[in-house]
Amino acid sequence: MTSLFDRYRLGGLDLPNRVVMAPMSRVRAAAGGLATASMATYYAQRATAGLIISEGAQPSLVGQSNPGTPGLHTDEQVAAWRTVTDAVHVNGGRIFAQIMHGGRVSHPDTTGFQPVGPSAVPATGDVFTPNGPKPAPVPRALDTAEVPDHVRSYADAARRAVDAGFDGVELHGANGYLISQFLSSNANLRTDSYGGPITNRIRFAVEVVAATVDAVGGARTGIRLSPGGTFWGVEETDVPELYAALLAELARFDLAYVHLEATADEEVLIGLRRAWPGTLIMNPVMPLGPKQTDRTTADHWLGLGAELISFGRSFIANPDLVERLRTGLPLAPVDPDTYYQGGDAGYLTYSAYQHTA
Ligand SMILES: Cc1cc2nc3c(=O)[nH]c(=O)nc-3n(C[C@H](O)[C@H](O)[C@H](O)COP(=O)(O)O)c2cc1C
Repeated sequence: MTSLFDRYRLGGLDLPNRVVMAPMSRVRAAAGGLATASMATYYAQRATAGLIISEGAQPSLVGQSNPGTPGLHTDEQVAAWRTVTDAVHVNGGRIFAQIMHGGRVSHPDTTGFQPVGPSAVPATGDVFTPNGPKPAPVPRALDTAEVPDHVRSYADAARRAVDAGFDGVELHGANGYLISQFLSSNANLRTDSYGGPITNRIRFAVEVVAATVDAVGGARTGIRLSPGGTFWGVEETDVPELYAALLAELARFDLAYVHLEATADEEVLIGLRRAWPGTLIMNPVMPLGPKQTDRTTADHWLGLGAELISFGRSFIANPDLVERLRTGLPLAPVDPDTYYQGGDAGYLTYSAYQHTA
């Protein structure tokens, strides 16, 4: 049976193991959406992962969801990311950038712009702003003629990511952000070719993938999806059909991977595994749920045919996660209070396993 510690050929990369670091926003970027020296250290500490996927980076200012997230839309941001990718590569690792356009999950206090979305329907709940949590604002529905600009922003960000030394990009198509809003049946009430039936609701996602593949190549492009997920109030009707149709369209691009979250029943996810001819990264637990990805859930999904498994929270607390999993060492617990608090505490302070005599 496949083991987490088997090598894997992913696109043009040779991964030494199948343990992927899941994308996690840590909101510690400097003003202007710039990556910092601490971010370089954080990712370099985790370079033994088979693949690191970075925190979500916005492809435009209006696409920024949270304060303190890094961007991929200015030359300064590219230069700043270069220190991160160099540090990971010097330590022998590989890193993809996650490109995350927040769509309606954003706020004018954060970006200076009214957020945009498929329709003028607000997300549910409060969004983060520099002035604390505030109710999600009503987004401006994109005109049909504006949609290509936002499609292009992902491809431009992908080009910048590669210029910055990333080995590839992951398009954030999950968790209620812009691509996921287009897939949704309650955030997307459009009556043009981007809304309504499944063939229309998947159009934005497919166009983003096509533009990105055109920009950096399929081997450098992955996409993350959360079938049936209800983050920020998105709902999706006909989940198995919606995602089967999307994967069928994506199959022609020879992508590096599809990265699925366990947001649907296992039999739906197994059906999607069967439908996807390429590499599958599985994040095998419900995001934000009480259960974290562990060795048991990872092995379960390797048995169900996933090629790679992504681990989130345990990678925050265990920079040497691969080694701990390999040797059966105990995992350090993560402190959720430090996820988004800024500074190096709870960021650079988790150490590799220390043997005591
Ligand atoms: C602090 C934190 C930040 C996260 N940020 C992102 C993100 O930027 N993009 C994303 O796709 N998922 C994000 N996630 C979800 C994780 O990638 C992952 O799906 C989730 O933590 C469940 O996996 P785990 O049990 O291994 O942690 C985040 C999770 C955490 C805990």
